[in-house]
Amino acid sequence: MNQYVIAIDQGTTSSRAIVFDHTGNIVSTGQMEHEQIFPHAGWVEHNPVEIWDNVREVIGSALSKASLTRHDIAAVGITNQRETAVVWDKNTGEPIYNAIVWQDTRTQPIVDELASDGGVERFKQKVGLPLATYFSGTKIKWILDNVEGAREKAEAGDLIFGNTDAWVLWNLTGGPDGGVHATDVTNASRTMFMDLETLQWDQEILDAFGVPASMMPAILSSSEVYGQVHSSQLLREVPVAGILGDQQAATFGQAAFQPGEAKNTYGTGCFLIFNTGEEIVHSKNGLLTTLGYKLGNDKPHYALEGSIAVTGSLIQWLRDNLGMISTAPEVETLAAAVKDNGGVYIVPAFSGLFAPYWRADARGAIVGLTRYANKGHIARAALEATAFQTREVLDAVNADSGVPLTELKVDGGMVANEALMQFQADILGVPVVRPKVVETTALGAAYAAGLAVGFWKDLGELSANWGEDKRWEPQLPVEEQERQLRLWKKAVTKSMDWVD
Ligand code: G3P
Repeated sequence: MNQYVIAIDQGTTSSRAIVFDHTGNIVSTGQMEHEQIFPHAGWVEHNPVEIWDNVREVIGSALSKASLTRHDIAAVGITNQRETAVVWDKNTGEPIYNAIVWQDTRTQPIVDELASDGGVERFKQKVGLPLATYFSGTKIKWILDNVEGAREKAEAGDLIFGNTDAWVLWNLTGGPDGGVHATDVTNASRTMFMDLETLQWDQEILDAFGVPASMMPAILSSSEVYGQVHSSQLLREVPVAGILGDQQAATFGQAAFQPGEAKNTYGTGCFLIFNTGEEIVHSKNGLLTTLGYKLGNDKPHYALEGSIAVTGSLIQWLRDNLGMISTAPEVETLAAAVKDNGGVYIVPAFSGLFAPYWRADARGAIVGLTRYANKGHIARAALEATAFQTREVLDAVNADSGVPLTELKVDGGMVANEALMQFQADILGVPVVRPKVVETTALGAAYAAGLAVGFWKDLGELSANWGEDKRWEPQLPVEEQERQLRLWKKAVTKSMDWVD
């Protein structure tokens, strides 16, 4: 009875359900990709109904693979791609538009308009974020401004908003009348609307964006019982007890609970999170200030974050748009066929450049091409782009904290790539450490849920579950590291100032 916790990981490319046991090991997994919808250059959408259908499906497959029923599950945790905005009618449960994904840049004119009064840092002191297309706020405004009848309905109190955590929670706990409309502090801190100190929606910012407060979910902690799964669902009556945005969940799953600890997750993008404990630290080097986690009534923990928009999705682009590889892991084989990058650098600024530059006007660039360059060099440059971007973010973290990190904990899909991990250590000049369970995102959400229902008793128990799998030591001579970094930075300058 109740020997497991299930985590739902609603990510950018797929939704997964993972069942964990008490030692934090994976018992079974269900996974389904959803469609990436690109209506115009720079636009990225998901269908929320497809996402919810997939979530139900993957819960079913994770349970059935391990022959489990709801009676075996102590709690459900949710983790999610953050910022992606869903607006739905609370009376019908139907989204009024596709989800606008975090990578989508259509709202740049809204950003420019808001920034014309006070600059992009207008709300940064309060919310920890610069004005950028990345966050949910401008996406909600775009939907209200562009979907016919949306603003009137929102003002009448009929429309509600959520990142995909809130969308999944509302559906999971709801019957025909809908369920709990809530989010956790980490997701709320990615909207542009939450005051980092009060952990409440800020009316002045909502007004500046023209978003009615009635649309916003209740802001709760990351670990408490939000509600029970509705009786119409497979997991009926199981408490939903943990929510963390995926990057914060990975930090929690890595047991990086102490100020000064950090992790880097290699997924669609790459996100380095540095725990600053109970202190709100404002970056001077292009990092975001964000919520780390809040357990029930305990004090919130904060973090600095270096967000990189495009890493794994560059490999998908080689696969789907160029047809250069047929599966993502093939990139490693292709890259291994050449001894170096042949002078080629790829700056994947598909959504502009995020940290530490925050340049909306940047676009992707491939530089250093000669007649000598081949597919292997392109593959290698694509992998190396991930490592170079991480290095620039780590430099910003070190500059902000004043105490250089001595090693980097890593997780996420791309850490299976041995060559990339070695190159990462080489370019950082510090060891890179992979834990035994690399599904730390789902694990973090499971931990948050399990703590709330007493399945795990405290953080000490979670730390004891963490184990090292492999460590890569830097091997590249410092002069070579510096030479490559210099070329990378030169390549970055070529990607900027591209938009008319
Ligand atoms: O901020 C976006 C991030 O939460 C997305 O993560 O792993 O779905 O690429 P991922």
